[in-house]
Amino acid sequence: MTVRDILKMGDPRLLRVAQPVTDFDSDALHLLISDMLDTMRAVNGAGLAAPQIGVDLQLVIFGSNDNNPRYPDRPVVPPTVLINPVISPLGDGEEEDWEGCLSVPGLRAVVPRWTRIHYSGFDQYGDPFERTVDGFHARVVQHECDHLIGKLYPMRVRDFSRFGYADVLFPGIADTEND
Ligand code: NI
Repeated sequence: MTVRDILKMGDPRLLRVAQPVTDFDSDALHLLISDMLDTMRAVNGAGLAAPQIGVDLQLVIFGSNDNNPRYPDRPVVPPTVLINPVISPLGDGEEEDWEGCLSVPGLRAVVPRWTRIHYSGFDQYGDPFERTVDGFHARVVQHECDHLIGKLYPMRVRDFSRFGYADVLFPGIADTEND
């Protein structure tokens, strides 16, 4: 079990456009994903992108379940390894919801995202897959894949009156220590 350090906003490595993965089903790739899973679970994250631990590759992991104390009321998103992703919005519908990021600790903002998307990519074995999703699942995918093009959610905020510290915005919710 290896929990890696998560880079914080201000680190230039979070601003890179990540490189595609070319070696699938390799020991190095499986080890990287194992470390990312350990790291995400250690901080109860809903997702993690390789650039957040300083690895310049188009690889994200995400997934939520009923047991995540950070997102107790959120729909379940299946545990997923997504490599070299391509996202397409379906329609022009947008919705707003609160987001946080492990690289932006302590803060939350309302972020607009496409409501419904199609995404495709590869798993760690190089097998392609695709999904059509909406709502929270679509939001998580857009947030994580933004990390692969050097975008952090504050760059997507339009209304800065709804951007602040989690413990001020949501007093009494005990999810503010580990984000
Ligand atoms: Ni993030």
